[in-house]
Amino acid sequence: MHVTANAKKFIDLEEKYGAHNYHPLPLVLSRGEGCYLWDVDGKKYFDFLSAYSAVNQGHCHPKIVAALIEQAGQLCLTSRAFYNDALGPYEKYIHDYFGYDKMLPMNSGAEAVETALKLARKWGYLKKGIPENKALIIGCEGNFHGRTITIVSLSTDPDARADYGPYTPGIEVIPYNDASALEKVLKEKGDRVAAFLVEPIQGEAGVNVPDEGYLKACYDLCKAQDVLFIADEVQTGIGRTGKMLCCDHEGVRPDIVILGKALSGGVLPVSAVLADDEIMLTIQPGQHGSTFGGFPLACRVATAALEVVKEEKLAERAEALGRIFREEMSQIKSPMIRQIRGKGLLNAVVIEPHEGKEAWDVCLKMAENGLLAKPTHGHIIRFAPPLVITESELREAIAIIRDSIKAME
Ligand SMILES: Cc1ncc(COP(=O)(O)O)c(C=O)c1O
Repeated sequence: MHVTANAKKFIDLEEKYGAHNYHPLPLVLSRGEGCYLWDVDGKKYFDFLSAYSAVNQGHCHPKIVAALIEQAGQLCLTSRAFYNDALGPYEKYIHDYFGYDKMLPMNSGAEAVETALKLARKWGYLKKGIPENKALIIGCEGNFHGRTITIVSLSTDPDARADYGPYTPGIEVIPYNDASALEKVLKEKGDRVAAFLVEPIQGEAGVNVPDEGYLKACYDLCKAQDVLFIADEVQTGIGRTGKMLCCDHEGVRPDIVILGKALSGGVLPVSAVLADDEIMLTIQPGQHGSTFGGFPLACRVATAALEVVKEEKLAERAEALGRIFREEMSQIKSPMIRQIRGKGLLNAVVIEPHEGKEAWDVCLKMAENGLLAKPTHGHIIRFAPPLVITESELREAIAIIRDSIKAME
């Protein structure tokens, strides 16, 4: 892939002055609108990553940006040492939107996951009666919940985990998409288990869609053992999979829901944990918090972002366009396509290496042809455009994907 001198200038700066904790495609973006991005040389691309599903509402959505600008001129941050006139209305809006008694606002997805785990432990000790320091959290193999020490303690990905020990205790990991594994561990240790933490679809692992009925079966097992069912909907939530929450596909109402990413339409880091009073009120003043969590700017931006999801029927669009995507992609005959899977507009293609060409090469070719996507775990390419993409844009994008894969043969 040709890297212009203009682009190289920015790449070199990151290389020299930034930590090397990412391996980006060699292109430099400077503008976004809807489902499109432009690089520093003015080349236009379809965005099929959406900042890992943070930009469901499309880049720089005018309504969200307007809310940002208006609030930025008025009040950005107060800390929670005082009340502000944006947080309460936002909390009520989330209550009405998702139907949970309360929410706890944080910033990044990882912080919200940490918050959920702290809530689960508190609830386990104060409500379930787990003996002090004996609480267990059950997670799933292949999970991705973020990057903190506790979260990587749950990880089974060597890259995410290695050399960050000693790890947080009180964690057990079972196979994903295997309700009998949960049943077994709950039978053996259910008295000590505070919560089961699960991604309704494992996004980072390569869009692993569990069998139908898995989430409901796990939920029922949790209920039978007085264990909290925590859904990490940071990537799958807010319309991405064709429902507001991915758990809605199975009629499961998690005890705790974790939201992030698209909660702000990708405009600010905004996350939240939702739960009912029995759980949420176990945390008392001073026992958890964040300087920025629930800051007025975030409250207004997130409210606007959620309004957009409803007003523009983004979940319904994701459902309909996702079907077209998988149908059209399955028409492509190529030795490099091993599997196409996904739900709504969270999809992936498992790539079979062919004559030395791999998923990375396909992504470079697609970028050359005007479409951005990124491999995950080497051989899987995730396709997750902003949900505002139109059907004709989607079909145009599929043609680029097809031509790029074909060009590998
Ligand atoms: C399911 C899930 N949980 C949590 C996170 C962490 O979010 P953040 O990167 O905002 O900390 C991610 C990020 O990709 C995610 O996909």
